[in-house]
Amino acid sequence: MTNITFTMIKPDAFRNGFTGAILDKIIKAGFRIVAMKLTFLSKDKAGEFYQVHRERPFYGELVDFMSSGPIVAAILEKDNAVQDFRKLIGATDPKKADAGTIRKLYAESVGNNAIHGSDSDENAKIESDFFFSNLE
Ligand code: RTP
Ligand code: MG
Repeated sequence: MTNITFTMIKPDAFRNGFTGAILDKIIKAGFRIVAMKLTFLSKDKAGEFYQVHRERPFYGELVDFMSSGPIVAAILEKDNAVQDFRKLIGATDPKKADAGTIRKLYAESVGNNAIHGSDSDENAKIESDFFFSNLE
């Protein structure tokens, strides 16, 4: 598989009933859903997923939030998937996100920001394997 990115609809967006609207936006933007599941991150798993941020002041809050409810994890395929998806979701802080982006429309705050998108091809592969280890 080439040109993939990994995403999670985060617990705030799931809780707020935005899953359907977000998936619709993703599909209309030209992404193909390669794999998808409704799942849940334990604190341990959330901590492992966001290891890169372990020294940051918001790490504890991030782990608590990401394990606070169900998430939807998915692998998405499209030309230039990583970059195009980051554009579609918008800036980390919804207040700074462009109009029409998923975070602008659906995020609660910089911490509870509705959706994750991989930041590189390498991480897209690592993150996809983290959730879908039985897929090739
Ligand atoms: P993500 O990895 O979830 O797609 O988000 P991102 O690249 O836009 O942002 P990143 O810097 O990787 O941060 C990961 C997640 O940590 C939370 N965060 N909280 N309270 C804060 O200042 C703060 N900063 C970041 C967000 O949930 C962010 O998406
Ligand atoms: Mg990130």
